Amino acid sequence: MDLGLKGKVAIVAASSKGLGKACAFGLAREGARVVICARNESDLQKARDEIENNINGEVFAVRADVTKSEDIKNLVKATVEKFGTVHILVTNAGGPPSGYFENFSDDDWLNAFNLNFMSAVRLIREALPYMKTQRWGRIINITSVTVRQPIDTLILSNSIRMSVVGLAKTLALQLAKYNILVNNVAPGYTLTDRVKYVIDQRARETGKTFDEIKSELAKDIPLGRLAEPEELANLVVFLASEKASYITGATIPVDGGWIKGVF
Ligand SMILES: NC(=O)c1ccc[n+]([C@@H]2O[C@H](COP(=O)([O-])OP(=O)(O)OC[C@H]3O[C@@H](n4cnc5c(N)ncnc54)[C@H](OP(=O)(O)O)[C@@H]3O)[C@@H](O)[C@H]2O)c1
Repeated sequence: MDLGLKGKVAIVAASSKGLGKACAFGLAREGARVVICARNESDLQKARDEIENNINGEVFAVRADVTKSEDIKNLVKATVEKFGTVHILVTNAGGPPSGYFENFSDDDWLNAFNLNFMSAVRLIREALPYMKTQRWGRIINITSVTVRQPIDTLILSNSIRMSVVGLAKTLALQLAKYNILVNNVAPGYTLTDRVKYVIDQRARETGKTFDEIKSELAKDIPLGRLAEPEELANLVVFLASEKASYITGATIPVDGGWIKGVF
């Protein structure tokens, strides 16, 4: 199937590793001109080289911290200077810390809001004028299964990511007339560097092996395993494509069946 992504300009936020990198890879493989960003410059260059060495095209890397408004403005400006416009925006960031209600101060809540909500607001604000002018756009927010089924230890994620869902649903209504589609993807447990680090840490704390901890995490997942980052990226690539032309305002899990609710 030709997804019609050749030549499209895509910004993927927080993309030197993990889910973001897999999305950038997937879009670049389909011929999109991809812009990646992250805070750590050397990881960013490594990711750019890795993607470029595996595709027939160019990847542009811009160092940016998505918690900083100026960095986001610069990211979109640099993209437009390089490639002329923005067709596709994948919003993404690091995850907020885990913990319970009593663990967090106002600053913790505001930091999580800035990281996981304001980053999406600011990225969309900067990219939107180009999408409106060309009457074509795809906005895809990477959220989490926590927007459909809270995880006990992740109160910041459970709470703040819901606001991204509200934002996307509202924008989907408002931007449909410009042919701009807005959707969320909701990954479940996925074997990224972040999750591997968590598994490693838990293995050290408990004296169990990496594989034992991984199996424990997988025991509530009907497919019986954690996801690979590419499995989330495959959905993002499809939603970014011409072929997803009638999907907007949706929140789609990629969770191996983990969410137990019907809707
Ligand atoms: N993996 C999962 O199982 C899973 C499940 C549900 C939701 N999620 C969510 O999905 C998102 C990505 O997770 P991941 O597992 O892919 O993480 P990861 O493997 O740790 O990768 C995170 C990427 O984001 C970049 N990043 C982090 N903070 C940033 C910032 N402030 N500005 C710019 N770039 C930033 C990192 O680079 P630098 O550190 O160099 O900036 C890195 O490239 C997180 O919000 C996470 O909570 C993950």
